[in-house]
Amino acid sequence: MFTLAHLSDIHLAPLPAPRLADLTPKRALALVNWVRQRRFLHRREVLDLLTADLLAQRPDHIAVTGDLVNMGMPQELIAAREWLNTLGTPERVTTIPGNHDVYGWRRGASDFGPWRDYMCSNAPGTGQASGPSQGHHAGFPFVKTYGRIALIGTSTAVPTPPLWATGRLGKSQRRALGHLLSTLGDDGFCRVVLIHHPPLPGQASASRGLEDAAEMAESLACEGAELVLHGHNHRPMLAFAQGLRGRIPVVGVPSASMHPDSHAPSARYNLLTIVPAGDGWRIGLTGRQYGPDGQMHEIERLHLAP
Ligand SMILES: [Fe+2]
Ligand SMILES: [Fe+2]
Repeated sequence: MFTLAHLSDIHLAPLPAPRLADLTPKRALALVNWVRQRRFLHRREVLDLLTADLLAQRPDHIAVTGDLVNMGMPQELIAAREWLNTLGTPERVTTIPGNHDVYGWRRGASDFGPWRDYMCSNAPGTGQASGPSQGHHAGFPFVKTYGRIALIGTSTAVPTPPLWATGRLGKSQRRALGHLLSTLGDDGFCRVVLIHHPPLPGQASASRGLEDAAEMAESLACEGAELVLHGHNHRPMLAFAQGLRGRIPVVGVPSASMHPDSHAPSARYNLLTIVPAGDGWRIGLTGRQYGPDGQMHEIERLHLAP
């Protein structure tokens, strides 16, 4: 059995003091938003309790599906790297970027330097199967394999105007992803896709959603996958995509730092258990949530597949 812990939307606090040179219009707006509202929602003490509970479960691997920071400032990326180190080494932890991680970036600029070893392939010959993606998506998709489990990391993080939170995979990443899903499926891997934005049409509003969700859904339908994990909406979500050999569970988690007094569901992570079963995989889910009593509680136990 392989146990994968999934958390997302860390929105790491405290926010480092911004440098004047880093304050693009989008970041300035985000800073006002943080001071007035978001710092009361995304709390470090909540995140710390959640991660302590998660580590006590001793999962085989931990997946963090984006929005690690708030405004994509260089000093935030360094602070998030230090936080990733507290979760574990890149052998045990995988992350992908979200829209908040590229806030205020210029088109074409791409530097996830501090996080790179948490988001790159661990198997020679995998990843970049159809040629490298360009610009912000350079290095995506990547693949980490653990036995017959393959974690496929994607990037939907692209710079957007103020008040927009859309994402995009882009044509070259989608092509490489389709090729990976196909070859890993042929080789009998359990394919777990990590993506920040909810991947299916209609799962988020036009100003917050994945622009190429229809193409992503088509890719899943043509090539298949065993599980898709996402964040971004800050609430628990469960949908099923139509896959090559049946339904594919598509699972979203709330923000891992959300305080219970917020309008959004409080902090939560999921434990996914993956067991080979016949010529497929049996997948279970256990949800653990931060309660109003300041403790973590198991709140859900589900069978996702078959
Ligand atoms: Fe988020
Ligand atoms: Fe997001």
